[in-house]
Amino acid sequence: MKNIASMEKGGKERKTLKLPVDFHTHVLPGMDDGAKNTDVSRKMLHLSNQCGIMKVAATPHYYACVESVENFIIRRKVSENALAEHMEAFGETGLIGIIPGAEVRLEKELSGKDLSPLCLKGTNLLLLELPYRSYSPWMSEEIWNIISSCGVVPVLAHIDRYLGFYKKSDFSEIFSISDFIYQTDTDAFRKKASLKFTFGLAEKGFRIVVGSDCHDTKYRPPNFDEADRLLQKNKSNRELFRYIQDCSDGLL
Ligand SMILES: [Fe+2]
Repeated sequence: MKNIASMEKGGKERKTLKLPVDFHTHVLPGMDDGAKNTDVSRKMLHLSNQCGIMKVAATPHYYACVESVENFIIRRKVSENALAEHMEAFGETGLIGIIPGAEVRLEKELSGKDLSPLCLKGTNLLLLELPYRSYSPWMSEEIWNIISSCGVVPVLAHIDRYLGFYKKSDFSEIFSISDFIYQTDTDAFRKKASLKFTFGLAEKGFRIVVGSDCHDTKYRPPNFDEADRLLQKNKSNRELFRYIQDCSDGLL
């Protein structure tokens, strides 16, 4: 993957600037603190559709300390089926592609489990949520073990959110572990520090994808329209937009 600077020289302009995939949502009904029921899920999908989203990664929280992978997959299947039936009842099957996955919180000994069923379906991409506290050496070790034992590619969830928890040296440590994909929130583009951080990832040539981390229709809705608007605000933002588009192409 070229970094953003090399794209500026050699890249060609795209006719449309649009991010068609939401890589992080809590749209599946009754799975976690996201959509409460199928109707909320349907309304969330409508909002995503209005933003031009074609596919959403459905990534309910997964906590290894409270549930087995097997049980989670069974619950998720029930939730997927309920949503599919609801959409069908409204004649809206196929409104948006839904790719089931999980948002897996990094815990000690997580690497001892087979995490491949939690990857985004049809891929080896695992959305991994780092703990909201100071970075510790066990995290690097656990991430490395997950990569080597499960053969997954971690997508680090809302990496911009850890600016308040991690030191610069912690991020350097994370960057050195592996070739991650970094997921930033749609909200990141309106905060100066998060935007600067995201530009930094692009300058290093790291792959970046965007997710809304939507949970409902009101307080944490799918808000890609806002992200699209902010990313088209000026020339450098548009370059970042184009870079993220290239990173996202073909992943899902
Ligand atoms: Fe989330």
